[in-house]
Amino acid sequence: MSTVTTIEKLALHVGTNVTLRGWVHNKNSKGKLHFIQLRDGTGFVQCVVFKGAVGDEIFHALDHLGQESSLILEGDVKAEPRAPGGFEISVTGAQVVQKVEGFPITPKEHGPDFLLSNRHLWLRSKRQWALMRIRDCVITAIRRFYDEQGFVCIDSPVFTPAACEGTSTLFEVQYFDDKAYLTQSGQLYGEASAMAFGKIYCFGPTFRSEKSKTRRHLTEFWMLEPEIAYATLDDVMQHAEDLLCYVVKSVLERRRTELEVLERDISKLEKIVPPFPRLSYDEAYEILKEHPESTFKYGDDFGAPDETIISKRFDKPVMVHRYPHEVKAFYMKRDPADPRKALCVDVLAPEGIGEIIGGSQREEDLETLRARIAEHKLPEEAFAWYLDLRRYGTVPHGGFGLGLERTVAWLAGVEHVREASPFPRMMYRIYP
Ligand code: 4AD
Ligand code: MG
Repeated sequence: MSTVTTIEKLALHVGTNVTLRGWVHNKNSKGKLHFIQLRDGTGFVQCVVFKGAVGDEIFHALDHLGQESSLILEGDVKAEPRAPGGFEISVTGAQVVQKVEGFPITPKEHGPDFLLSNRHLWLRSKRQWALMRIRDCVITAIRRFYDEQGFVCIDSPVFTPAACEGTSTLFEVQYFDDKAYLTQSGQLYGEASAMAFGKIYCFGPTFRSEKSKTRRHLTEFWMLEPEIAYATLDDVMQHAEDLLCYVVKSVLERRRTELEVLERDISKLEKIVPPFPRLSYDEAYEILKEHPESTFKYGDDFGAPDETIISKRFDKPVMVHRYPHEVKAFYMKRDPADPRKALCVDVLAPEGIGEIIGGSQREEDLETLRARIAEHKLPEEAFAWYLDLRRYGTVPHGGFGLGLERTVAWLAGVEHVREASPFPRMMYRIYP
């Protein structure tokens, strides 16, 4: 009797006969032996087919199996410390589901355009396998963290009547006889939910018509947004630190094999423990001043090169707080100690990934908030409901948005956020 199982569960089946259902990742043959690297989505394993063990017919059926042929194999599980993954299968039977030739993505080098155009197939590569499983682990860790902390998941809508993060990156869509926008952030709805449930988070796709082709920008990305009633900026920063440490720990515990596939320097992730450095905008400016190559002007928002200079100083995420309010969003509360500054924080990841979190304490006063909406030339009618939150039981509160793809790119150590999304959407790419 052969037990149907998966590659990640092989440890439970050493010494027994199992059935694995998957695809040929790689194959070599030598005389009376075939070496098949089988993948089944949960992992990769070397399967050795000896002609004498399976008989001529099966052996020849496997002769010319190309990459990505679908295949069901039966075999005995052996612990094999020298094999990647630690196990090997001695094949006792095989059934070819589909014989394939000419799979477009071979182990040789391909250019990024070619790979992106074949994203539907590229996902099967070992590197993408590792990346998507790390992404999955990050999502699961986030949801676990919030559940353990007593947050309620309250999702925000994708169709919205107004901007949240400035009007320049809005995607407009036809909405029956009217116009609507794809959400840039669930925050405003998150604030309504926090007033109803105390501590909430929303986690879903967000959209920005970013006309930029940098390695940090997608037009569609996932954002996690916690919102906490009665939280101050300090609470928000502490919460961001707690969350990031929890996520890193979980990835280190559950996705070590995947990190190794990506040749990630794990020691860098092991350094991500509290406390994280906290710098004011003015202190960050002092760092930039020491760098003659920086073109930064005091008062501006940091550009990618500035963020890189600042984050290179530390081997942990750095929290930069209290930016000049002019470069930040309308809803941010100003610092009573220095009203030129907003009570906000950006968390910059190490190793050049830049901002992974943006957050703030929110303006809770009705009249001040109305004035901000006017200053930012936003239509007050669209925010009437939002202003109600300041009319009925307003309290100090705050939260942040964490970009999932940037976080995954940082943890996995990949250069470009497009590889952290299963089907990335960018200015010049919406296929496949
Ligand atoms: O700093 P942002 O714009 O903040 C907000 O949207 C707030 N309303 C969030 C909140 O307080 N609830 O975006 C938050 C994060 C960024 O730090 C970044 O990680 C990610 O979202 N992000 C992007 N990721 C990929 N591609 C883009 N075009 C992104 N724009 C923002
Ligand atoms: Mg930001």
